[in-house]
Amino acid sequence: KMRFLTGLILSCLLSLSLADGSINPRRFPKTLRIGVANAAPQIEGAWDEDGKGETIWDRFAHKHPEKFVDRSTPDIACDSYRKYKEDIALVKAMGLDHYRLSIAWSRVLPTGYTDKVNKAGVEYYKNVFKELKANNIKPMVTIYHWDLPQPLQDQMNGWLNESIVDVFGDYAKFVFETFGDDADWWITINEPKQVCQAGYGSGVFAPGIVSNGVLDYVCTKHVLLAHARAWHIYNEQFRAKNKGQVAMVIDSTWYEPGSDRDEDKAAAERAIQFDLGIYGNPLFNGDWPEIVKQRVADRSEREGFNTSRLPEFTKEQIDYIKGTSDYLAINHYSTLLTYHAPDAPIGTPSFDKDKSVALSHRSDWTQGSADWFFDVPWGLRNLLNWLKNTYNNPEIVITENGFSDTTGTLEDENRIVYLRGHLSACLDAIFADKVNLTGYTVWSIMDDWEWTGGYTSFLGMYRVNFTDPARPRIKRKSADYFTGIMKARCLVD
Ligand code: NOJ
Repeated sequence: KMRFLTGLILSCLLSLSLADGSINPRRFPKTLRIGVANAAPQIEGAWDEDGKGETIWDRFAHKHPEKFVDRSTPDIACDSYRKYKEDIALVKAMGLDHYRLSIAWSRVLPTGYTDKVNKAGVEYYKNVFKELKANNIKPMVTIYHWDLPQPLQDQMNGWLNESIVDVFGDYAKFVFETFGDDADWWITINEPKQVCQAGYGSGVFAPGIVSNGVLDYVCTKHVLLAHARAWHIYNEQFRAKNKGQVAMVIDSTWYEPGSDRDEDKAAAERAIQFDLGIYGNPLFNGDWPEIVKQRVADRSEREGFNTSRLPEFTKEQIDYIKGTSDYLAINHYSTLLTYHAPDAPIGTPSFDKDKSVALSHRSDWTQGSADWFFDVPWGLRNLLNWLKNTYNNPEIVITENGFSDTTGTLEDENRIVYLRGHLSACLDAIFADKVNLTGYTVWSIMDDWEWTGGYTSFLGMYRVNFTDPARPRIKRKSADYFTGIMKARCLVD
């Protein structure tokens, strides 16, 4: 291990600059912060301890075990509620700059409303922040990572009710007030596409509402308004003092045109506008992407709806949302080849029919735990360039990227190759393409509860033994690899 490290540092130092005097593209620029990410419901456990309220994921897992591949629950997960110091020690040992965590809404506000604060929950996060500070690790804080307090679903239909904008705003304000001094990198809402399309459209995620292309768009609108509310609150009441940055995390696969044919290029662009643009366009350019408006309106009409299934924004709402992302936060895992698909016949509406593309992949791409999960580093580089060009060169932070393995091996070759390739794509994007990328975050430091995937897919640089009550963390080779490159702050092949 020592020899490997020395070799790595030496080759980095020796190739400090290239023969022509330009910067060695393998060294990490000072402006790039590197960290790891996770989320409360996936690691903390203690689902009903010390006053924490029930969430829609607690309920979903307890009531519908058949929706989870291993019929698992988040009840204990990695037990980070007790083991957070150990987790932070791993992050420290790896030499990372930042740690992305999420606040469990119902741990601090058990019913979701600000009238009842759970002191023990606030105390827990205060301790986590204290520990991070003592170890000189910057927290990056997600305010909402899918774990809606159950009462908000029961009493007001969660994200389907426009009043959620007020309720979320109050919660976000509470978080800024309570933890404002502890963090400066904020994420309002994680992967709204999953919240809406999976939670309220296909129904495969909590709260499991099936509405296919109708209520999922309603959710999308409310999520954007709720994010904007939180941003405005921060901007008006906290920014002067806390000087942080607030964004929403958008997730996207890179959709590569399957051929040079114009219709395949259009299909790829359409796919990315439906997945990413539906959030990115309102935030950066204003209003829904034109292609999304057109297609949903057209199909809705043919389906016999009086108005488009895609709700409209008023002019005030467009202005209220536009410009409310201080940086562009992006989760990225995979790339797919995208082809033109003939319009799906009119019948039950759905988001996928509105999008209408055919997807495939190359046979030599290494596959992860899902049929859409492939290791394609150049896809990330293409995505970064697309974001730069489409949204006027924003500051970009990758808030998640990592390899989802099905074997759990400690050798972990696939993850090492994946991380090296994707970091390399980031450096190319920074140095060669002049993308303003300032953060890269690995999902994850350790295995966790992967939602409906339960404990069957492995994204950690540390393995967690979920059958041992002590939940030991066991090092994979990727952890050594990553420690090495963090020490050298340099990437070698
Ligand atoms: C995206 C989600 O934000 C996170 O919760 C999940 O665990 C990772 N992807 C990996 O699947």
